[in-house]
Amino acid sequence: MRKKLVAGNWKMNGNSRQNAALVEALKAGLPLQGCEVVICPPFPYLQQVGGLLNGTRIGLGAQSLSQYAPGAYTAEVAAEMLLDLGCKYVLVGHSERRALFGERDLEVAAKFERALQAGLIPVLCVGETLEERQAGITNDVVARQLMAVVDRVGVAAFSSAVVAYEPVWAIGTGMTATPAQAQAVHGQIRGAIAALDPEVAQGLRILYGGSVKAQNAEDLFSQADIDGGLIGGAALVADDFLAICRAAA
Ligand code: PGA
Repeated sequence: MRKKLVAGNWKMNGNSRQNAALVEALKAGLPLQGCEVVICPPFPYLQQVGGLLNGTRIGLGAQSLSQYAPGAYTAEVAAEMLLDLGCKYVLVGHSERRALFGERDLEVAAKFERALQAGLIPVLCVGETLEERQAGITNDVVARQLMAVVDRVGVAAFSSAVVAYEPVWAIGTGMTATPAQAQAVHGQIRGAIAALDPEVAQGLRILYGGSVKAQNAEDLFSQADIDGGLIGGAALVADDFLAICRAAA
């Protein structure tokens, strides 16, 4: 049985005061068992939030990392630094990184590999744009994004990784994929991994992301191949995030 995972991606939001209040509320309301919970604050607050989470069962993650090992790379953040700050997970290839900051499949694969080398669990984000869905090439796009990483690190590496399917048209738009639409792509992702290694595919957690809310979380999480969620906007509101965690638990 794959344990459900709910990860909150705070994106470029928050400040010290808001972070403290949000974490306090999460600690007070979190369900005790049944799902793993992670939050991913912006880099400057990893230390603060990590400290606040100490001794709780909420894990810490980062939103990205450098594809390089420590060295002369101004303003980059190395995997080792994230580990040093207590991170367990790191998002890789989020669609905002791909669309707004030019991250391509090769770079995403390099970051995924770096995360693994340092002992972090990469959460590989994949997903199609609206135009790509309308053109009927969702499966091709997702397969391309997935295989770019498999080609670099091998399928066995996915036994220490998580995949998040995030249709770009559903992110921050309030337009959630239906449970059936999401399940179809999740099934395809697991199938692609299973064709290479059935055991790795069986254990792989595949999260859904894109306008997950308290009201739609349960239907999404009850699908056979949906193992939790990557939550953006709703992760900034304690009651909403807690309700999504309860749906997963
Ligand atoms: P959203 O973001 O929940 O605000 O749609 C999801 C994500 O980008 O991970």
